Amino acid sequence: MLSNPVFVRSERKTPELMKDITKKYSNGEVTVVWKPSECIHSGICFRGLGEVFDPRKRPWVTIEGAATDRIITQVKKCPSGALSYYLNRDSEEPVKVEAETIVETLQNGPLLVYGNVSVKDSAGNITRKNNVTAFCRCGGSGNKPYCDGSHKRNGFVG
Ligand code: SF4
Ligand code: FES
Repeated sequence: MLSNPVFVRSERKTPELMKDITKKYSNGEVTVVWKPSECIHSGICFRGLGEVFDPRKRPWVTIEGAATDRIITQVKKCPSGALSYYLNRDSEEPVKVEAETIVETLQNGPLLVYGNVSVKDSAGNITRKNNVTAFCRCGGSGNKPYCDGSHKRNGFVG
């Protein structure tokens, strides 16, 4: 387990190159979809299921590392949507999550809201969110009110 997790695998790519990258990892039953440009480096995936998610490895996802239900449970906790999944017998649409709304403060990071929420921005636009939504607490995000991972770069403590 890493005490200060970072995704070293992304450091050689520019943000522009990262934007278009989508990786898929399948065990024949479930396919995990990974969009590195959306990762906010919360570390939730590899702290929760290090047998599957390990940024020190190449590839960093070992899909055979755990049973399908454990993988799905962990993927649902990804606060940014960088990780999603679909069951291979179903369509390739990422599964929407129905969950009770829970609010959690991530140390030195965003405010995580689990479940279905409607977010109204300063212009009055309403966006429906599900799964887990990460809201910026550090003030440095370029995509407010959402976290974009800037807290890792600006040294936010709180
Ligand atoms: S945002 Fe998702 S993919 Fe990125 S570290 Fe957190 S849980 Fe893992
Ligand atoms: S808390 Fe992540 S960018 Fe502000």
